[in-house]
Amino acid sequence: MWISGPVTAECRGTRLSTGINNHFIPCFFRYNFYGEGMNTEPKQAVKPLLRVLRGEIVFPPPIWLMRQAGRYLPEYRAVRAKAKDFIALCTDPKSAAEVTLQPVRRFGLDAAILFSDILMLPWALGYPVRFAEGEGPLLPPLQPADIDRLDWKRLDSAIAPILETIQRVRSSLDSQTTLIGFAGGPFTVACYMVDGKAAEGFPLTRAFAWRRPEEFSRLIEQLTEATIAYLRAQVKAGAEAVMLFESSAGLLSPRLFSDYVIAPTARIASAFRSEFHGIPMIGFPRLAGLNIVRYGNTAGIQVLGLDTTADPGVIMPLLSSEMPLQGNLDPMALLVGQRALAQEVAAVLAAFSGRPHVFNLGHGVLPETPPQHVAELVRLVRSATVPS
Ligand code: CP3
Repeated sequence: MWISGPVTAECRGTRLSTGINNHFIPCFFRYNFYGEGMNTEPKQAVKPLLRVLRGEIVFPPPIWLMRQAGRYLPEYRAVRAKAKDFIALCTDPKSAAEVTLQPVRRFGLDAAILFSDILMLPWALGYPVRFAEGEGPLLPPLQPADIDRLDWKRLDSAIAPILETIQRVRSSLDSQTTLIGFAGGPFTVACYMVDGKAAEGFPLTRAFAWRRPEEFSRLIEQLTEATIAYLRAQVKAGAEAVMLFESSAGLLSPRLFSDYVIAPTARIASAFRSEFHGIPMIGFPRLAGLNIVRYGNTAGIQVLGLDTTADPGVIMPLLSSEMPLQGNLDPMALLVGQRALAQEVAAVLAAFSGRPHVFNLGHGVLPETPPQHVAELVRLVRSATVPS
């Protein structure tokens, strides 16, 4: 492997739409899940993040952050204040594209992630979703009869503005920045539909899954098929990689984890792979403990996202030695900044060394995070030297 010198935040930060390549890092492909043998594309034509998602080691690693767009940015709050509500913002392509691009512009990150929400899928299926100011999402707690009322006819027209956002963002990005699409994992989306809000432990959902397994499986199946259609449409509109946020994965026993997380993910990943050979899928089974190992090895995703609590030293030896990993800096260390941040950055870089690694947080940016700390994080990662 050859390793280039560091790329600075400054030089990446000013490259929106310039097309200048200054992230050329010659490396060979260690792991090519496309079965194509050595890649023949000129390296500078492939975006750094995509190279890692396809199994290559790039150092310093590409960096983006979960929830990189949002309330911690004053420019987000300004756009948000003008929107009628959060759903209006997600369905206004011009504003959604603008807030998607804000963190990329400010920090020169390696990826833009579509600005939307995992609950836009049930919304698109006609399920009533609203975001109450200061309360988060509110939905009517799902009754069994609601499952057959999901309105598939509405899906295409409802997601049209989200797809337009993707097209707009893609056409504004430079040649080195990757556009990530996403959806919630079916189980996590079901949690919000059944409990109706961000309830601690999602007790109604877990009781529903045990009390009415047939109906719960039908709900998961419907959401799985809708997720396939939704992610397919996102890729056709211009998403270059996709991520499945299974944020509630940690609530399940190993057996239910197989039925409601691994099986639906495997179905989504295989449908997706058969149509889009070469578009990487990142799976993020948050707080799943050692279930993450079975997920990484059997769910069919190409890249595994680690949450804050996942210890790469424990998990890595249990996974295919070449699987790219993403994560997992503690968002609280980012909020605190200074020495805590510098120490945590060094520890994360060392923990993933020798692996294809995408630098990210272990969960989303906290709303109280000072934006300067994100700039400092990008600087620390881009100026890092290979851990010894
Ligand atoms: O990462 C990004 O920058 C892209 C946008 C994005 C949002 N939500 C925007 C958002 C993404 C990828 C999500 C995913 C999401 N949404 C998840 C999975 C990841 C995770 O955090 O575990 C979940 C569980 C949700 C559901 C959700 N949406 C909740 C619980 C809340 C309220 C809590 C909160 O953080 O405000 C939301 C609202 C939401 N989604 C906001 C944003 C920027 C805040 C809305 C506002 O501006 O008022």
